[in-house]
Amino acid sequence: MTERVLTGITTTGTPHLGNYVGAIRPAIVASRAPGVESFFFLADYHALIKCDDPARIERSRLEIAATWLAAGLDTQRVTFYRQSDIPEITELTWLLTCVTAKGQMNRAHAYKAASDANLAAGEDVDAGVTMGLFSYPILMAADILMFNAHRVPVGRDQVQHIEMARDVAQRFNHLFGGGRELFVLPQAEIEESVATLPGLDGRKMSKSYDNTIPLFEGGQRGLKDAVARIVTDSRLPGEPKDPDGSHLVTIFDAFAADEAARAAFRQELREGLAWGEAKQRLVALIEGEIGPMRARYAELMAHPERIEDALLEGARKARATATPFLSELRHAVGLRPMVAVAQPAQAKAAAAKSALPEFKQYREDGAFFFKLTGAHGAVLLQSGPIAEGREAGAWVKRLKTEGAAALEGAPVQWDASAERAQVEAALAALVAAAQQA
Ligand code: TRP
Repeated sequence: MTERVLTGITTTGTPHLGNYVGAIRPAIVASRAPGVESFFFLADYHALIKCDDPARIERSRLEIAATWLAAGLDTQRVTFYRQSDIPEITELTWLLTCVTAKGQMNRAHAYKAASDANLAAGEDVDAGVTMGLFSYPILMAADILMFNAHRVPVGRDQVQHIEMARDVAQRFNHLFGGGRELFVLPQAEIEESVATLPGLDGRKMSKSYDNTIPLFEGGQRGLKDAVARIVTDSRLPGEPKDPDGSHLVTIFDAFAADEAARAAFRQELREGLAWGEAKQRLVALIEGEIGPMRARYAELMAHPERIEDALLEGARKARATATPFLSELRHAVGLRPMVAVAQPAQAKAAAAKSALPEFKQYREDGAFFFKLTGAHGAVLLQSGPIAEGREAGAWVKRLKTEGAAALEGAPVQWDASAERAQVEAALAALVAAAQQA
């Protein structure tokens, strides 16, 4: 069975080297594994929650899409699309919203952080909180459940949201599945082996710390300038250095080809390699991997219509799954075409009863007979002639209550009756109906 892996990238900001090492590169590598079907998308509806500047939204979507494509994402293999191109996702969001407990949303991290901060500042608990922020986890659940993803690679801060998606999927399955698992229960996946890249100052590389190394911005020059600002100790050229205490080395490790290259770099530092020289080596190493991508990135940014085409093609593929699945879900909750309307309970019971086999007793040429007929009047069981009417009645009663067990010794003509198995099934249905009544 192929496993579905899905992840979303919120389209705010411009990707930096930490995003590349921590998310983009491992996702692309994982998408090449056999037996996985990957869905990667631009979470641009999520971006609207955090950002009301249309120009920034537009710019960021373009840059992030170009980055993933330039980094080697194979859109033949991976379904790569914009969340906002899939109307089924917003529709599913509503179906899920209707089965999500508000109390659970009160506990979602993003909302809780905002409301706690408000309370601490003596403000109204919901000051500045939009319904978008509050419902953020439901939109995310729809992203995931729409495609029945098995695994969702995310950062640690997102694990709670995946758990909420599982909860809401379970509730939906229970309410509307009729014993079927409409939704797969997704599993969060935190890639422990992927190091978080340290930034210039050694803390996690993050825009909020202003310590990032750009990925493509500013060209090779921009990369050089940033690496030059990596903080090191003040040991002079020729002085032995401690590689294990240096985040410059950690960044080097993330790009080195193999263990041997890592060990060699450490050894040189121990032997007194100058920090300036070490930084030049690091620039060359990163440039070897990023340089060709930067060229592709520039090419794509000069032709946004190619990016648009790739994303529309991705949306087409995604909707080939989403559209039929959503109609199944609409049907499950009762949003159905107005044909074959479910019958009221009474009519249903009558219909079920009329579908049951029936015994008939009759008299012919002075003898008594019974027969069992099926749904369309077909004779399933035919008796021979019976002298006494009471005897015929007693056999019918036994067959109705005891079922096939009473066939033993019953005055039936098998040559005029249906297959034994058919008769037994019909009798079993009658017995069951009698027990239910
Ligand atoms: N909320 C995620 C983040 O900020 C992005 C995201 C949106 C996502 N929808 C998703 C991630 C679905 C995984 C699955 O990182």
